[in-house]
Amino acid sequence: MASEQTWNREGLPAWSYRSDRIMALEKERVFLNHWHVVGHINDLKEKGDWLSFDLLGERALVIRGGDGSIRAFHNTCRHRGSRLVEGDQGHCRGALMCPFHAWVYTLEGDLKTPSQPDKFPALDSKEWGLKRLELEIWRGFLFLRFEPGPQGSIAEMMGRHEDELSVYPLESLQPTDGLYTSPITPVNWKAMVDVDNECYHCPTAHPGLTDLYGRCYEEGPWIDGTHRIRGPFNENPSRRELNQRYRELVEQHPEPFRSIPQAWLYIGLFPVSVLVFYPESAGFYRSIPLNAQTSVMTGATYKYDGESESMTLARETSTAIDAEVMLEDKHICELHYQATSSKYWDHGLLGDSEKALREHHDTLRELIPELNSSKSPGDSWH
Ligand code: FES
Ligand SMILES: [Fe+2]
Repeated sequence: MASEQTWNREGLPAWSYRSDRIMALEKERVFLNHWHVVGHINDLKEKGDWLSFDLLGERALVIRGGDGSIRAFHNTCRHRGSRLVEGDQGHCRGALMCPFHAWVYTLEGDLKTPSQPDKFPALDSKEWGLKRLELEIWRGFLFLRFEPGPQGSIAEMMGRHEDELSVYPLESLQPTDGLYTSPITPVNWKAMVDVDNECYHCPTAHPGLTDLYGRCYEEGPWIDGTHRIRGPFNENPSRRELNQRYRELVEQHPEPFRSIPQAWLYIGLFPVSVLVFYPESAGFYRSIPLNAQTSVMTGATYKYDGESESMTLARETSTAIDAEVMLEDKHICELHYQATSSKYWDHGLLGDSEKALREHHDTLRELIPELNSSKSPGDSWH
């Protein structure tokens, strides 16, 4: 029987997935002024521990100060703009020293001293300190944005999920392998997020996941900047050996972890962050644009504090299942993205179970009305 729902089922125009001009607008209106998850407080246990976050040419540094507080700054020296810390995360003892001319900053971001201070006028330590960024800690996860924007706080956005998430011990999560980065994927970031916004593709593209969840995954709408997908484990036994082993291990969860539901739960936060909650781990991932036609998926997995041996094995097993899913998603991303270079492809037609994808597009359309044009407004590629 055909769907009787009436809604605008049109996907974003193909040209918008390849446009440098739209990417520039997205940087200003979608990326710099919206929240992004960047890590967890327990990535920064010691004073001087830091992590970094790069986004479309902007560089952030999150560091635990000598006073124990966590702050976010531009990862840019005030002297001549050198990147202060290199890599995903690390530790600096006592102070941050610029690798270019050795200006020194305190762990709280104040300028301690330029090197050869007699060559400079007197510099105020606050005025010439690192430029601060907005940081919010929500249940241990760290979020930052480069500029104020239309979103409220993370706590407000996550409010509607609070009850469901109360059973997960998030504040005490412990890091595992640090940040992972997918291979560079030759697609626009929206193609990645589109795939992530629906599970209509799961039965065909993810046979392993379908064997784990069954077909009864739950998908909600985007509401006030968040989106939820949940896959409760298949009521029937799984056929795949990896899934069987994983489910047997999850069955062995000791208290207090037995109360965590046997399901994979994903909460998306506009624009590109996803928080992940599993019976044996939690974490996040993000679809990060490198430019209009290239993106990467980056993320991290954390273990529950006090995990048992069987939980360690369960975590290793779910990581293996996930690695397969990530490759499958990368593949279908590339397959459908290739259509956007064809002059005969204009846009997709969405089914009822892809409605969240349209809702994500609608938010983008509100922020960037140019996306409502069926023709490219004059990019040279077209
Ligand atoms: S750029 Fe940092 S000290 Fe010169
Ligand atoms: Fe997928």
